[in-house]
Amino acid sequence: MTENLSVEQRGLRESATYDRTTIAAIQRAAETGIYDIRGWGAKRKLPHFDDLLFLGASMSRYPLEGYRERCDTDVVLGGRNAKYPLHLSTPVTIAGMSFGALSAGAKEALGRGASEVGTSTTTGDGGMTPEERGQSKHLVYQYLPSRYGMNPDDLRKADAIEVVLGQGAKPGGGGMLLGQKISERVAGMRTLPQGIDQRSACRHPDWTGPDDLAIKINELREITDWEKPIYVKVGASRTYYDVKLAVHSGADVVVVDGMQGGTAATQEVFIEHVGIPTLAAIPQAVQALQELGVHREVQLIVSGGIRNGADVAKAMALGADAVAIGTAALIALGDNDPRYAKEYEALGSAAGYYDDFQDGRDPAGISTQDPELSARFDPVLGGKRLANFLRVMTMEAQTIARACGKAHLQHLEPEDLVAITIEAAAMARVPMAGTNWIPGSGL
Ligand SMILES: Cc1cc2nc3c(=O)[nH]c(=O)nc-3n(C[C@H](O)[C@H](O)[C@H](O)COP(=O)(O)O)c2cc1C
Repeated sequence: MTENLSVEQRGLRESATYDRTTIAAIQRAAETGIYDIRGWGAKRKLPHFDDLLFLGASMSRYPLEGYRERCDTDVVLGGRNAKYPLHLSTPVTIAGMSFGALSAGAKEALGRGASEVGTSTTTGDGGMTPEERGQSKHLVYQYLPSRYGMNPDDLRKADAIEVVLGQGAKPGGGGMLLGQKISERVAGMRTLPQGIDQRSACRHPDWTGPDDLAIKINELREITDWEKPIYVKVGASRTYYDVKLAVHSGADVVVVDGMQGGTAATQEVFIEHVGIPTLAAIPQAVQALQELGVHREVQLIVSGGIRNGADVAKAMALGADAVAIGTAALIALGDNDPRYAKEYEALGSAAGYYDDFQDGRDPAGISTQDPELSARFDPVLGGKRLANFLRVMTMEAQTIARACGKAHLQHLEPEDLVAITIEAAAMARVPMAGTNWIPGSGL
């Protein structure tokens, strides 16, 4: 008699501890004996930008008129030492995602979209492709622990260099690229065998600490004639100390990637259990820069879960100079598009849930090296879609900044923000809405 009743109507209760996802994970592990690897970032609910709200101006503050009054969005990155700092029209940049994880067409589209709106894109754990270089006005070249695709000529072709020490999805860990994505071209660029799983190193083999990093940064400057800004990217964990050490080592720009940050492939246990939320990392980074007297002189780029203009504005109000996006950019290109719903289902996933970037069977042709699947992706159209998305993000951030009375996105400040949860208030170091209370500050 109960067959027509819903689970709730039957009085069944799902365990919060052993919920269905947990049960499925145990069953999968028991069946296969293999730990789960996936892409994307942390999926658990964490304190995030949604837990913050802006205090729009009214009487005590004066808003700017949306259609008549300017609100600038430009940013200069890397002026501390570089002869040619990057001048970007919007503070929303594209994060490093490797050729290998992504198809050559997807990399090209990232360059096209970024260039159309005057922002930068970044190579990744797989070197620089000519298509990407050709279509990117501002290209940041990653110098990675894996050294995959490392090529001194490409260093010179880049507009900036990003020394990657870690990623928010896996601080302390190395990346993975499974054999099915190691095509002849990918293998050639990484000088590794085709079709065999590749695990990248978790740390740079030729230095062990900040003193060595300072030497490495100087080497990079010398071989590129002191022309290019040098970024240092860290996964958010002991952010206050890491940012201080990065600055002492000579970084012109520090990139802090929070726990929600995407990855092409990592162990699920790592993604969900290592690192700290983006929201918690920003004030630590800003404090470190302020104490060294270099906030705004050494720019801070924040990434990890940035999805819209409100997130951009919030990150900037907390003290970031710019942000970087990965997952949202892939979605803008067409990843997880409901158009491919049936094909995602055939892979055991669903549009909106597809995170098996490592599998190389992406029906959207983005996270794959399969020639037939990649051919489905149109880099020109993908670039247009990304440019649209970047414009929307920038305009959304401007809308908020004007409402707070700011003529430049960089004028947003912590005072413009309140929190709606105690956790977010404590992490972001802004008061709970309607109070002066910042938990943990003694105020
Ligand atoms: C498909 C994919 C590939 C990535 N590859 C790299 C990489 O090669 N090097 C790197 O430093 N970070 C890599 N990342 C991380 C991004 O640079 C960035 O830190 C992260 O995606 C930001 O978080 P978001 O995805 O929530 O925007 C990758 C991320 C994705 C989604």
